Amino acid sequence: MARILLIIGGGIAAYKAAELVRHARKAGHEVTPVLTDGAQHFVTPMSLAALAESPVYTSLWDLKDEVEMGHIELSRAADHVLVCPATADLIAKMAAGLATDLATTLLLATDKPVTVAPAMNVKMWEHPATQRNIAQLKADGITVLEPDEGPMACGEFGPGRLPEVEAILAALPLGSVTAAPLAGAEGPLSGKHVLVTAGPTHEPIDPVRVIANKSSGKQGFAIAAAAARAGARVTLIAGPVSLPTPFGVSRIDVMTAVEMHQAVMNALPADVAVMVAAVADWRVEASPTKLKKGSGPPELVFAPNPDILAELGEHPDRPRLLVGFAAETNDVIDNARSKLERKKADWIVANDVSGDVMGGDHNRVQIVSADGVEDLDTATKESIAQSLIDRISETFS
Ligand code: C5P
Repeated sequence: MARILLIIGGGIAAYKAAELVRHARKAGHEVTPVLTDGAQHFVTPMSLAALAESPVYTSLWDLKDEVEMGHIELSRAADHVLVCPATADLIAKMAAGLATDLATTLLLATDKPVTVAPAMNVKMWEHPATQRNIAQLKADGITVLEPDEGPMACGEFGPGRLPEVEAILAALPLGSVTAAPLAGAEGPLSGKHVLVTAGPTHEPIDPVRVIANKSSGKQGFAIAAAAARAGARVTLIAGPVSLPTPFGVSRIDVMTAVEMHQAVMNALPADVAVMVAAVADWRVEASPTKLKKGSGPPELVFAPNPDILAELGEHPDRPRLLVGFAAETNDVIDNARSKLERKKADWIVANDVSGDVMGGDHNRVQIVSADGVEDLDTATKESIAQSLIDRISETFS
């Protein structure tokens, strides 16, 4: 459970803030709404108070509030501040550090992480002034969500739409406070348990050194987030990465392949397993003390790690749908096909990692199964995750 201070800007998308409050409350979060003057033309404090089951704040000059809860305290009583929708005007004020009303004063006074969900006309979004302000917010450490692209309320088409409220909540870096599954979330995967591994593993050599790889965990975390949005109970077993826990996901942190293997086996049974982690194939007999330079180059003795995916393929509790990943630099499809057979998986999601896929924000994948090969266009890792979860949902429908 997290406490969210929700700052609602004055745009047509403000009505979606009401929907966001409903979702956040359903997931057990506390929401304190703050409306700008403009926002009150689109949604009423009364309806938000009813949905949030909390007082709604609108004015800096409301003395009663200053007595009961000053604006400094209000700005800090939350775990997270979300600006949704963030209008071009509100973004400009934030970038300039203005404090002209309650919303902007709270944003300047807060010491909590701030996420901004912009929504505005496409030309306003693309205007150099807005893009300059967005760059400034990012430089100030504020998380800015990408607006969706599509038809707009004003009749134009392009980026500037508020993302779906589930996606906004899933993007909030609420950390361990989101460890509880999204109770009662309805979706195509409701009632299903989805197990995801993500990130690299670290295999220690000595107490301070490890063998690692360049996996960022972004693709696996995005898949866990998309599965939670689809209503699944999600267990995410994460190697050492510093990504925030997606909304509604239970996360188990591990370091080595052996720990990841154990955590996966403990998490069974699952309806779906998506093994995205870049698991080290080998571990070494780690030295109990730090290896010394003076002793010369160490001789590392390698032992094979358990192959988690292959073991799941033969497990008595084999998930009904078993999905593996194949990061390859050459012969991508051939390698994926042999992996499909060898590991007894249902699908292998093949990606060419010869470019900057590892650690990057985009991916291009091909889904290899007994039915053939499906090519997905290059897209953000979030979008690839959603496509995969859509296909997984179809197999259960
Ligand atoms: O054999 P390779 O590492 O290329 O296979 C990749 C797939 O197998 C990925 O889905 C990865 O998560 C999984 N894997 C695993 N345990 C290992 C090695 C790979 O689960 N030890």
